[in-house]
Amino acid sequence: MRNKIRYMDYSALFSPFQYKGLHLRNRFVMAPMTRVKSPDGIPGQDVVDYYGRRALAEVGLILTEGTVIDRPASKNEKDIPNFHGEASLEGWKKVVQAVHANGGAIAPQIWHVGDSPSKWTPPSPFESPATMSAADVAQTIAAFAASAKYAKDLGFDALEIHGAHGYLIDQFFWHDSNTRTDEYGGKTLKERARFGIEVVKAIRAAVGPDMVVIMRVSQWHRTDYQAKLASTPAELESWIQPLAEAGVDIFHASQRRYWIPEYDGSDLNFAGWIKKITGQPTITVGSVGLNTDVMETFSKGAGGDNTDINELLRRFDRGDFDLVAVGRQLLQDPEWVKKVKEQRFSDIKPFEAKSLGVLY
Ligand SMILES: Cc1cc2nc3c(=O)[nH]c(=O)nc-3n(C[C@H](O)[C@H](O)[C@H](O)COP(=O)(O)O)c2cc1C
Repeated sequence: MRNKIRYMDYSALFSPFQYKGLHLRNRFVMAPMTRVKSPDGIPGQDVVDYYGRRALAEVGLILTEGTVIDRPASKNEKDIPNFHGEASLEGWKKVVQAVHANGGAIAPQIWHVGDSPSKWTPPSPFESPATMSAADVAQTIAAFAASAKYAKDLGFDALEIHGAHGYLIDQFFWHDSNTRTDEYGGKTLKERARFGIEVVKAIRAAVGPDMVVIMRVSQWHRTDYQAKLASTPAELESWIQPLAEAGVDIFHASQRRYWIPEYDGSDLNFAGWIKKITGQPTITVGSVGLNTDVMETFSKGAGGDNTDINELLRRFDRGDFDLVAVGRQLLQDPEWVKKVKEQRFSDIKPFEAKSLGVLY
């Protein structure tokens, strides 16, 4: 089956990328993938080796798994890594050193899970779901900024804010989860973007003007993958442009399949639209080189066969996006990027869902 695939010359995707102080050897990014393998939030040597292995095999930029800020409800499993506290930061420092020693670049994905800003559930058994108070909001913004500063101090090359997939910032964006009546709520997406904007501003103030700040955003709703947060390009602009002005350098436009057009009347994908609106670099993602999407993996345990990336190349050559994130292929095969570069397509290991449980 795989022999029938018509591969092309993908060397354009191996051109270097530079933005502010971020220099990448090629356009491939490892997508952030939560692995839940850091006991009590502390990344160990296996995590160091996992990321180091991918840097050695020529991934341009590694986005780490989601790592959490210092707030009581920022994570939903204890072995998700922290991005605060001496022992966790010491673990991350070793990760940075390993990636740099192998010629790679790395950014942490900084995270706060939901539930929602209007019905917020701290993990304590003694507290019931409660609306985040003004003090909770202020402390959460400050905790995002503190983690961003740790990223800078540890020598990370950039950082990514998780503003997608139903996590806390995204839940402020959505009308059904954000029913607040204070200045963080509102009828329009633009109004509900305020929390995200303030997180970005606080992070920008903490890291200074030069460090590249990436923000991941998505359109789908956590209970409805067909839904769109911004239903028109104009609404998209009203949401994204203020985030760009607040200090986001690069938008990471999360899709399940990168070739799906975002709005009628154009074949631009989500990353293409954000680049068109903001003029800033974007990252595309979603089933790159794979014939199944991530929700099929999560809901049905689907693995996947390799596909070519000719359509990706066509869109890249057209200038729709600058970087390409690859998730499951790089989880499965640390050498995916190197094998594509060397045109060793038949050596690429097909994705198997059982690999989700293994940190290799
Ligand atoms: C095991 C696993 C964990 C993931 N964890 C995160 C995460 O922590 N943050 C995030 O933004 N996306 C997460 N994702 C989504 C991926 O970053 C990516 O967007 C998705 O897998 C689609 O890319 P792919 O088709 O190349 O796998 C995760 C995906 C997988 C498979």
